[in-house]
Amino acid sequence: MVDSGAMAIVGSVFNVVAFAGSLRRASYNRALVRAATELAPSALHIMVFELDDIPLYSEDIEAAGAPPSVIQLRDAIRKADGLLIAAPEYNYGVPGVLKNAIDWLSRPPRDSALNGKVAAVMGASRGIAGTARSQLQLRQAFVFTDTYALLQPEVLVGQAHEKFDADGRLVHQATRDVLATFLQRFTDLIALHVGAEARISA
Ligand code: FNR
Repeated sequence: MVDSGAMAIVGSVFNVVAFAGSLRRASYNRALVRAATELAPSALHIMVFELDDIPLYSEDIEAAGAPPSVIQLRDAIRKADGLLIAAPEYNYGVPGVLKNAIDWLSRPPRDSALNGKVAAVMGASRGIAGTARSQLQLRQAFVFTDTYALLQPEVLVGQAHEKFDADGRLVHQATRDVLATFLQRFTDLIALHVGAEARISA
């Protein structure tokens, strides 16, 4: 377990919105989000959202009023202390489902739900690189949205079919250990961020 000296706000519970960039019923990334809810420290409360009802982004739809599914996710993120994303990898990049959600959430630019938010990115794939390229692409989008992504440890769950059982439970102990450390570091980063905001507004 990492040193949690950053836990300046003793006894606080931080709320985090989590979603996976996959609509697949047996998705490894949705399973990874479930594993995160199981392994999260007590100071981290994870609320899981699904992307099934998020329509394809169009400025015309947005101009007529954002759809309820988008408003619900956007408002939840605005109220939350952080954002946890499980990113699959398609063709060496972020899958359309996930990119589409980020595009909706990035609006309006400079005043979006992603602005100034603390995020953590993880991912699972059947390939050996475990979504490394997709995660880097997502971090690139966070440069524009001004979202502070946790840097280390990286949760790159390669060969996911060997790490989850038939029920979608993360059974690979070394991966569970990395995920637990990652969630503790994420909690510490949120605590630092929330503490800094409190000091600035005091
Ligand atoms: C993939 N997959 C894949 N995997 C990978 O590691 N790198 C890649 O570039 C790709 N590309 C890719 C493209 C397309 C169109 C599909 C359908 C799949 C495999 C992918 O990691 C695998 O299907 C995962 O199971 C997808 O994540 P979920 O749905 O299990 O969360």
